[in-house]
Amino acid sequence: MDKIGIFTSGGDAPGMNACIRAAVRTCLFHNIKPYGISRGYQGMIENEIKPMDSRSVGNIVQRGGTILKSARSKDFHEKKFREKAFKNLQEHGIMGLVAIGGNGTFSGASIFHEEFGVPVVGAPGTIDNDLFGTDFTIGFDSAVNTALEAIDKIRDTASSHDRIFFIEVMGRDSGYIAIYTGIGGGAELILVPETLTSVQEVADTLTKGIERSKNSSIIVVAEGDEEGGSIEVSSKVKEILGDMDYRISILGHIQRGGKPTAQDRMISSRMGIGAVEGLMYGRNSHMVGIVNNALVYTPLNEAITKKKPIHPELLRMNEILSI
Ligand code: F6P
Repeated sequence: MDKIGIFTSGGDAPGMNACIRAAVRTCLFHNIKPYGISRGYQGMIENEIKPMDSRSVGNIVQRGGTILKSARSKDFHEKKFREKAFKNLQEHGIMGLVAIGGNGTFSGASIFHEEFGVPVVGAPGTIDNDLFGTDFTIGFDSAVNTALEAIDKIRDTASSHDRIFFIEVMGRDSGYIAIYTGIGGGAELILVPETLTSVQEVADTLTKGIERSKNSSIIVVAEGDEEGGSIEVSSKVKEILGDMDYRISILGHIQRGGKPTAQDRMISSRMGIGAVEGLMYGRNSHMVGIVNNALVYTPLNEAITKKKPIHPELLRMNEILSI
């Protein structure tokens, strides 16, 4: 393998740049030529493929976003476009791919590998931390810290005005961001898709809080919760409680930006090295991950189909901490 293509795809995540940098430099370290593919699969289809060198990834370890840009390519769902992408890779002589992204990225990579046999190793890059085969994904820790900073600030105003705040965090179908920010931010209740929490329970928690002289409360709602997002949940609770002074704060894409934390820079760099070396040693169609602080490889189709549960111990923590 003397040429490897590197790309980022799907939602960007802080730490993707550190991963690109590590992958490029690992290639160079092993005398492999690294190629950067811009805008994920879309750039692969449109032949936005350029050689990279050590300097092209200088001064990016601390930057959020992705210098290779990202996209959610609709075209790549069609075989004729995947064929085009494969032809482009062949023209450049690229024999392996490092795919940095989440579930959608790996589904595309897995099909691409099945159809054309292109060796691919994925590095889990998504703030959602929803991929099986790794304890943490690139960007999760940074997103949690960004959300926590916001929650701390909201708490100041919530307590000044004796108000209830419903704060919505990202995570798609996963409650990881909500659990970590809720526990770290001292939320009264955390609503996640992994557990059923009725709006009646939310109302009861708020009422009990008032009885215990809690004048302000923070309810963290994962965007994928079965009761809906913060707007739906809060209006259902208001229907039960009637009089309720509350505000909603949807943190949104702020969670995806900003510089990566030390933890994210570390895991991104480890995974970038692991992805390239995985390709070199014949790991085809696998995702590199870190489990119990060791680098592991999981077949891509397991990483995308197996559900990553939230440990029950984490789920019950807030019951204890919020009394
Ligand atoms: O997967 C990352 C993520 O930020 C999710 O948490 C969120 O549901 C989604 O992407 C938002 O995607 P977009 O930026 O395309 O609106």
